[in-house]
Parts: sequence; structure tokens; C-alpha cells
Amino acid sequence: MARLKTAVLFSGRGSNLQALIAACAAPGFPAEIVLAVSNRPDAAGLDHAAQAGIPSQIVPHRDFKTREEFEVALDKILRAAGAELVCLAGFMRVLTSGFVEAWRGKLINIHPSLLPDFPGLDTHRRALEAHKSRAGCSVHFVAPEVDAGPLIVQAAVPVLPGDDEHKLAARVLAAEHRAYPLALKLIAEGRVKLAGNRAEIDGKPGPLLLDPAGS
Ligand code: GAR
Repeated sequence: MARLKTAVLFSGRGSNLQALIAACAAPGFPAEIVLAVSNRPDAAGLDHAAQAGIPSQIVPHRDFKTREEFEVALDKILRAAGAELVCLAGFMRVLTSGFVEAWRGKLINIHPSLLPDFPGLDTHRRALEAHKSRAGCSVHFVAPEVDAGPLIVQAAVPVLPGDDEHKLAARVLAAEHRAYPLALKLIAEGRVKLAGNRAEIDGKPGPLLLDPAGS
């Protein structure tokens, strides 16, 4: 069966890109990464793409006068690569509703909180300040609002006594590296459908929940 042609957009470290690359390298995985795109020339994630032999492009947002012009360039290279799905993996640019609508149902994001808790930045600090007993991550279809849209997969982790932002971030990041490949697999297998403002997985309302043990 043809594998789902996937593009990954990122801005920095690229550990989620690396997790997706590793998943796609497994025999029988139903998706392939056809392009990795960074908006920052110095993004460490570019090395992950190079090491895996995945084509990458840099589209520096600073080279464009407007968000729309930046997105026209982005759209062009995504379509030229034949991308059928676009994964945002630490892509720290807000996308306009025009771009989001053009890729509706084909654009997903990972966010380091159990949405709808804590959209935006500093999620781990905010989870600690709110004395949450659980934190986690969410993979969702992108909606025009930042860090919002139908949830596909969530993975929860406990908040432990003695946690600081770094310890919690590391625990959540490990969960991200399980959740994102799983979401990609489910989509590539055709098991995820958009039904209004919800995602359905195997006909059941999303999100699919991964517990801390990974089951
Ligand atoms: C990840 O924690 C991801 O969830 C977050 O950026 C980090 C990127 O790390 N994304 C957001 O906050 C989106 N709102 P990575 O470059 O190592 O994958």
C-alpha cells in the first residue's frame, strides 16, 4: 500500500521530527516523510533530516514581508513535495486562517499540554502553578485558534512531588515521542475522520488516550 506522504514543519530542536523519522523507518509503517521544513536556518532538527537522508528546506520567515507571503512560499513547497499531511512539530509560527483552511483535515500539531488546558507558551510552569496532578501532550487537527482543534491523541503523565519545569518537560516530551507517531499511524491507516469539530478514531469520539504506561 502507498505510504502517506508527510511533511514535517519545525523551528528548533526537532526531537518530535526525530521521533516521526524513527517511526517511519520501521518496516510496514504506513507513512513516509517526504520533506522537513524549518523556518529557522539554525534549527538543530535540520541535522536529523540530513542524517536520515530526508529532503529539507529552509523557509526563513524573516525573508517575507507578510505572514501571507511566507505561507504562499510554504504552501508551494509542500504541494511540490506532494505532501498529503503536514505535521507541525515545534513549529513556532502562527499560521493564518487562510493557510489553516487550505490544509483543513491535513494539518496536525503537537502541543505539550492536555488541551484545552494551557494553550500557548510555558505550559509546564503553568501546570505546576495550577497544582495539576497530571500533565501530558495533545496531537490535534489545527484550527485557526492557536493550539486548538479536534483532538486525535492525548498522552498523560503524572506530575510528581519535586517536579520542576525541566523534569516535567522531559517526562512530557517522552510522551510526545509516543503520541505523535501513533497519531500519524492512525491517520495514515485511514482510522481518523473529522466529524464536525471532533475527530473520530475507529468511529469513536477522539481523542485516543495513552496512559502513562504507554498502553
Ligand atoms: C515540543 O514540546 C512541542 O510540543 C512544542 O514545542 C516543542 C518542540 O520540541 N510545541 C508547541 O509548544 C506548540 N504550541 P522539539 O523541537 O524537540 O520537537
